[in-house]
Amino acid sequence: MKNDKTTKNVIEISSILEEKNRKKATEPTEASGPMVISISSGKGGVGKTNIVANLGYTFSKMGKKVLIFDADLGLGNLDILLGLTPKYNLSHFILGEKKMEEIIVEGPSGMKIIPAASGIKELAHLSKEDKVPIFRKIDELVNQFDIFMIDTAAGISNNVLQFSAIAQDVLVVVSPEPTSLTDAYALIKVLSYHYGVSKFNLVINMVKSIKEAEDVYNQLKMVTGRFLNVSLNYTGHVLSDEKIPKGVKRQKIVSDIYPESPSSLCFKPLAENILKIKREKRNLEASNFMWGNILNY
Ligand SMILES: Nc1ncnc2c1ncn2[C@@H]1O[C@H](COP(=O)(O)OP(=O)(O)OP(=O)(O)O)[C@@H](O)[C@H]1O
Ligand SMILES: [Mg+2]
Repeated sequence: MKNDKTTKNVIEISSILEEKNRKKATEPTEASGPMVISISSGKGGVGKTNIVANLGYTFSKMGKKVLIFDADLGLGNLDILLGLTPKYNLSHFILGEKKMEEIIVEGPSGMKIIPAASGIKELAHLSKEDKVPIFRKIDELVNQFDIFMIDTAAGISNNVLQFSAIAQDVLVVVSPEPTSLTDAYALIKVLSYHYGVSKFNLVINMVKSIKEAEDVYNQLKMVTGRFLNVSLNYTGHVLSDEKIPKGVKRQKIVSDIYPESPSSLCFKPLAENILKIKREKRNLEASNFMWGNILNY
């Protein structure tokens, strides 16, 4: 009888401790440690990869250690945009042929890139088993960097949603086109309904003026406010600028070769606003907890 009581007490105490530890791992704390930022859009071709590349460049120039993961797994093109020709890519890591450290390449201003493969269909449909080592390695690696950015593919595939959901800050890129707004809304809806993401940071690309960017923000804020329980933060805008495609053709980013062009001047304020986002501290325990949830979808 006494033994039964002792066992009950031990079970009770350990479950209280477990609950306490779990809370500790997920409770919001002061902003510190590496930032993990995903860049997604819903609609394709709205400028995610260009924004990631230019932000990476800007953060590096600000003295930050930057790592970028090209999570457009089957059709990655960040390396091409940056004029890099990596020998290895994520497929070599997944096949166990190379360590993550061995596939990382260096881009302009010292930012580091994890290149995706292009044209390997299987990569776009990774199994749960293949994703776990990637997520684990990401958690290990981010601690060596100040900023870790994930450039996702277009759409709302599982890959996009999972890579968005592991980030602390989700940047949603939209352009003024109505289809970009509806697709961004769809992305926000799925991430909030199924992945518990409640804070989104909007970047409006290809606008003619700040006024146009504000109008786009207000439109999306109105619909998300009416139908979803999320907060939408205006993080910045990038002006429409012919120098961007010009740079793409030369495989150079606009901030590097045309630093005074209208779009280049937008990246510093955007980077500063991203640094100011109020964020929760990431830690391994919390993220282990998160993988479990995310991979079940
Ligand atoms: N601010 C801008 N002004 C003018 N052109 C731009 C701007 N931003 C991006 N572009 C152009 O838009 C095209 C798409 O850009 P990008 O590849 O970065 O988009 P994406 O969202 O990553 O596309 P995907 O969904 O296919 O990954 C490119 O040709 C680029 O030159
Ligand atoms: Mg892209």
